[in-house]
Amino acid sequence: LARTAWLNGVFVAADEARISPFDRAFLFADAVYEVTAVYNGQPVDMERHLDRLERSLSEIGFTTFPARKEIAAAHHRLIAENGIGEGFIYLQVSRGAYGGRDFPAPDPARPTVFAFGEPKPLIDVPSARNGIKVIAFDDIRWARCDIKSTGLLGPVLAKTAAKTAGKEDAWFVDGDGLITEAASANAWIVTQQGELVTRALSNAILPGITRHAIFDTLAQHGLKIVERSFSLEEAKQSVEAFNTSAVALVTPVVEIDGATLAGGKPGPVTRSIQRLYYTAIGADVAKAAPWANE
Ligand SMILES: Cc1ncc(COP(=O)(O)O)c(C=O)c1O
Repeated sequence: LARTAWLNGVFVAADEARISPFDRAFLFADAVYEVTAVYNGQPVDMERHLDRLERSLSEIGFTTFPARKEIAAAHHRLIAENGIGEGFIYLQVSRGAYGGRDFPAPDPARPTVFAFGEPKPLIDVPSARNGIKVIAFDDIRWARCDIKSTGLLGPVLAKTAAKTAGKEDAWFVDGDGLITEAASANAWIVTQQGELVTRALSNAILPGITRHAIFDTLAQHGLKIVERSFSLEEAKQSVEAFNTSAVALVTPVVEIDGATLAGGKPGPVTRSIQRLYYTAIGADVAKAAPWANE
C-alpha cells in the first residue's frame, strides 16, 4: 500500500514526492518541524503543535505562516488515507528553494511544506512497559534549542552513541553538569525526597507539548511539579526518571549513565503519570496498558 504524503498543498504518493536539492532545508537545515501523536485516529494537541510551529517560524524570521486550518485538515486526511489509528504525523516547513546558496533569508519566503504519517504503536511498547537505559552525552547543540529546528546533528550523534553503547537513548548534560533534556524528549526525575522535577523552560530546551499536557493533567489532580535544573549526579541518585515526547509519551528511564535507578524497574510515580497521560489522550488504560496498573 503506497503511503500518501502532503507536499506544498498536494497529496501525493510518498515515494513520488520530489523537492529541489536547492531547498534550504537540504543546504542549511533552514527549516522547522513538528511531530504530532495520533491516538484513536485523532491528532493529539493539534492546536498546541500549531502554536509552537508558528513560534518556531516566527523565531527564525517568518512573518507569515502556512494556514493553520489547512495544516490541521492535512493532518486529518493523512491520518485517514494512511489508516493511522495510533501513530504520528511529521510536518516540516522549510524556507524553500531558490536555485542557489545564499545565506541571507529571502523575504518573503516561498516555503516548502511537507508532511507524512506513519501508523505505530505508542502505548503498548516494550520501552513504555519496561523502561529504557540512557547514556549521558555532552550537550553540543546550539543555543536555541527552544526552536524546533531540523538541525539535529546533536541528537543524531547522541542517539548513535547510545546505540553503540547498547542503550536506548541519551540525556544531554550542559557545561555546568546539569541535564538539559533527552535527545528527543524532555527529561524528568523523582528525587529521593519525592519531588517530581523537570528543568524550567528556557532557550536550552524544547518546550515539549507532552510536558505541557502533563503539567495540565497533574494540576487537575493536585500533583506538584518542581521546575528546576538538576545535575547528572542528582539524576543518577534519583529514585525514578522518565522521558516525555509526542511519540515516546511517558517512557520510564531505569538506568542513567550506568547507574541503575531503584531496582531497574519503572516506579510507582512514573506508572501513575503514564496512566494519567494515557487517559488524557483517550486511552482505556485497563485495555491499552494493563501493565501500567501494576
Ligand atoms: C529535544 C526535544 N525535547 C523535547 C521533545 C518533546 O517535545 P514534544 O512533547 O512536543 O514531542 C522533543 C520532541 O521531539 C525533542 O526533540
